[in-house]
Amino acid sequence: MPNLSFAPTDHLFVLTGAGVSAESGLSTFRDSGGLWDNYRIEDVATPDAWHRDPHLVWHFYSKRRRAAAAAKPNPAHLALAALERSLADRFFLCTQNVDNLHEKAGSQRIHHMHGELFKSRCDSCSRPPFQDTSLYEPPAGLPRCTCGGKIRPHICWFGEIPFGLDRIFAALDRCTLFVAIGTSGTVEPAASFAAHAKRHARTIYVGPEPPSNQFLFDEIFLGKAGELLPTLLALGNI
Ligand code: OAD
Repeated sequence: MPNLSFAPTDHLFVLTGAGVSAESGLSTFRDSGGLWDNYRIEDVATPDAWHRDPHLVWHFYSKRRRAAAAAKPNPAHLALAALERSLADRFFLCTQNVDNLHEKAGSQRIHHMHGELFKSRCDSCSRPPFQDTSLYEPPAGLPRCTCGGKIRPHICWFGEIPFGLDRIFAALDRCTLFVAIGTSGTVEPAASFAAHAKRHARTIYVGPEPPSNQFLFDEIFLGKAGELLPTLLALGNI
C-alpha cells in the first residue's frame, strides 16, 4: 500500500468533495443515482429557483438535512481529523460538502466553501447565518425572519460566490502538498484549485475514478477514500 511521504515543513491543503461522504451513505451529485439524477440544479440550487419555488428548495434541503443528521463519519473523515491533530496550523481543510461529517469526526480547521446544511440565513436582512436543524416540509410553512424576509438555506447556489475565497487562496499559496479527495473536478472555482497549487506544490487525487481535471495531478490514487486514506495519511507514514 502506498503512502504519502511528508516533510515536517510541509503545509497540507485538502479539498474534499461529495465522494468523501459516500461511504457514510450520503449521495454524491454526479455518480449514477446521484442527487442531480433526481433533481435539476435549476429547480433547487440557484437564486432563481429560490424565488420561483422556495417550498421545493426547502423540500430538497430538508431531505438532505434528514440524511446528514443520521449519517456517521467514515474512516476517511476520521483519518483527516487525526492528521489535523498532528499538523495543527500546517493543515487546512476546504470542503465543498455542506454536511457536518468532518466536524463529527473532530475536524476543526475546516472551511465550508459551499455553505453549511445546518445553517440558515435571511434572504433580505443582514442577520448573520444561524444554526438550524429544522425540516421545512409540508405541512410546515416557510420560515420567516423577524424582518419579514424569507429564511433560506446557508448554501452557495450556482450563480453565487463561494464563501471565503480570500482565505482559501491564502492557504493555497502556502501549501506544499495539495490533496483532493472525492470530487469530480467539474465545478469551479474548486476545480481550478489544483492548477493554482501546482505552481509550487505536489498535487494528489484520491477517489475511485480519475476526476475531469486529472491532468492537474502529479499522482492519482484510485480507490475509495475510506479504504485508502487511513493508510495514505497514517501518521507513521508522514
Ligand atoms: P460529484 O458528485 O461531482 O463527484 C463526486 C466524486 O466522488 C466522483 O468523482 C466520484 O468518483 C467520487 N467518489 C464516489 N465514491 C467515492 C468514495 N467512496 N471515495 C472517494 N471518492 C468517491 O461531487 P463534487 O465534486 O463534490 O455544489 O461536486 C462539487 C459540487 O457540485 C458540490 O459541492 C455541489 C455540486 O453541485 C453546489 O451545490 C454548489
